[in-house]
Order: sequence, then C-alpha cells, then structure tokens
Amino acid sequence: MSQAQIQIFDTTLRDGEQVPGCKLNTEQKLIIAEQLEHLGVNVIEAGFPISSPGDFKSVEAIAKLIKKATVCGLTRAVKKDIEVAAEALKFAKYPRIHTGIGTSDSHIKYKFNSTREQILERAYEAVSYAKSFVEDVEFYAEDAGRTDNEYLARVCEVAIKAGATVLNIPDTTGYCLPSEYGAKMKYLMENVKGIEKAILSCHCHNDLGLATANSIEGVINGARQIECTINGVGERAGNTALEEVVMILRQHPYLNLDTSINTKEIYSTSQLVSQHMGVYTQPNKAIVGSNAFAHSSGIHQDGVIKKRETYEIIDPKEVGVTESAIVLTARSGRAALAYRAKKVGYELTKLQLDEIYANFLNFADKKKEIDDQDIHHIVETSSVYQQIISA
Ligand code: KIV
Ligand code: ZN
Repeated sequence: MSQAQIQIFDTTLRDGEQVPGCKLNTEQKLIIAEQLEHLGVNVIEAGFPISSPGDFKSVEAIAKLIKKATVCGLTRAVKKDIEVAAEALKFAKYPRIHTGIGTSDSHIKYKFNSTREQILERAYEAVSYAKSFVEDVEFYAEDAGRTDNEYLARVCEVAIKAGATVLNIPDTTGYCLPSEYGAKMKYLMENVKGIEKAILSCHCHNDLGLATANSIEGVINGARQIECTINGVGERAGNTALEEVVMILRQHPYLNLDTSINTKEIYSTSQLVSQHMGVYTQPNKAIVGSNAFAHSSGIHQDGVIKKRETYEIIDPKEVGVTESAIVLTARSGRAALAYRAKKVGYELTKLQLDEIYANFLNFADKKKEIDDQDIHHIVETSSVYQQIISA
C-alpha cells in the first residue's frame, strides 16, 4: 500500500514567534524560512501581516523569496486583515490566506458576544472574501478542541461552501485527549458534507503535553495536514513539535503515513531556530535535545557500543546528528571508558583498564561529567601509563 502524504505546515514564524522574547526581525525570518524550505515543509506560515508593519514586511519578503513551499499569512475573519494579508502575499508563487474565527461557545459568548448563527455567517464571508484574492484558502475554527462536534461540522460545511480547501481544527487550549481529538477528526470525516473537497488539518497546543499525540491521532483518523513548529516553540506550553511528528511517522511505517521532510536537516534547523529565537532547547527534548542520543549509564553504554539499536530507535544520522554520545559519569562502566579512551588515542588492555577504571571512578565521583581532557589526566597519572605509551 502506498503511503499517504501528510502535509507539513510550519508555523514557527507565526505561532512560534508569538512566544514572549522570541520575536524575530525580517532578516532572521528570511534565514529561517529559507532553511524551512530546504527542510522540505509544504507550507510556511510566515506571519500575521496586519499585526505590525514589521510582520507585513517579513511576510512580503518571504513571499518573494520562497519558490517551492506555499507561503501563508494569518488573518482574523475581518475584511481589512484579509486585504492586508493578500497584499503581503501578492508576490508569492503559492500564496495561502489562513482565516478563521472562534467557534467554541466560550469564544462565541465571551470573545464575540455573538451567536452560533452569526459565527457561521462570518466564517462564510471571511472565506469568500479571501477567495476573491487567492485560490488557496485555509479556514481555522479557533478552539475547535472545545467546540461540540455537531456545530463544528456545520462550521466546516459553511467554510467548504465558501471555497476553503483546508479546514484547520485547532486544539487552541491544548485541552483534548488523543482519543477525543482523533474521534473529532473521524466525526468530521464522516459527517461534513463536501469533505472530499477539503483536507482536515491538526493544530495542537501542548498545555497538557499532548500536542504531538493529538496530532498523530488526528492523522490516523483522516486529517492530512499537521501544523507544527521547530522545537515545539509556541504560545504557553508550545505547539506540536515538527521533529516529533515527522519522526513518529517515519519510525512507524505500517501507519502508511509519511511526509516530504528531509529528516537529515532536522537538527541543523532546530539549532538555527533556537539560536535566532534565543530559546534554549531542553536537553531531554525528543529528537533534538542534547541528550536525545547520549548514553550515560553503564548498562546502556555497554549495549550501545555492542549494537546501537539496543538502546536507540533512531539512527542519529537520520536527523542530522553526527553520532550517539557515550557520556562518562560515575554511572559509566568499563566498556564506556575503554571506548572513550580509544577515541582519544589509548588502546587499553583488560589489566590496564581495571587499573584506570578505579582511578576514573574516584575522579567521576567528584565531577558531573568526564571530558576528553580528564581522560588524558586520568590515564597519564595512572601507574600503567608507561606501559601504554611504550606499547
Ligand atoms: O491555536 C490556534 O487556534 C491558532 C489559530 C489562530 C490557527 O493558532
Ligand atoms: Zn495556535
């Protein structure tokens, strides 16, 4: 069976950049957009053009630069927003307007002081108006995660009637359980009239740490686009992490779902975004954290040195990380010490290793991590050093 292609919609430059302190200037946005295209994302959400003159300029510059990916601009369901987005996108080879409105009862009542019927009208008008500028219009039903499915299906039908070809179902507040979000997609696939004219898109936030799981459940249940950010950056606890969903689909080929991402570019893209946003990536972050391919306990190190697959499900080279790291700490065993000593030039016999390992443990108990310089010191101050160098 051939693999269904999941579109990767990257919103690092829009939802990701909404994080306090992460603002990017136009030059930085262009550098990241170019790398996102190189990574192979299908859609780059470049910004929210009406939000500021700077963001307008960035979206316009990205629209001029990018030639393979679709370039998208966000709007509210407001005519002026749509006009400004269309203007910012006018040089894009593949422009998309992403418009929408809150659909949960809470948004309808407290944000808009409106009614469900009026929201349906506004959704229709916004999509129709966006359609008068560009062919590719995506509609978002903000807070769809807390919108009841029957009403959400009506909203989707209206958006399709007005010409939307992508229906974004955001779990804006990161509330849904994976089973619930998956069931929502299944319900929409089965109950929205005209659904064959559009694709459903997952847009999940990570308030309960479920953004990635929810997106995966979404595509298992019929969605064909995932909205995500590099390193999972985004509002509050962040968005679905691009590197996670892409590698989950790659590692589970029986799901018959894949993406066009060039995974070897993942690590460098992660580093680039982290540097420009000034956001440090937690060491234990899946796929791109500094410890994602590092092994420090003796049992694991022994296994990985014998056969990498014993403790790694991904070959680090697949995501652009040069190699697995064998980190030396007081929990490391002889195999790890011999492996690292060899890397810095010492081929140790079993007896030499026994002697040096005892010194190593004393040293490691006083220090968090043993580096190459420490290895030289431990070897050179051992009683077997003369034998080693004369061998
Ligand atoms: O989380 C959300 O609902 C959004 C929309 C504006 C698409 O980011
Ligand atoms: Zn969002």
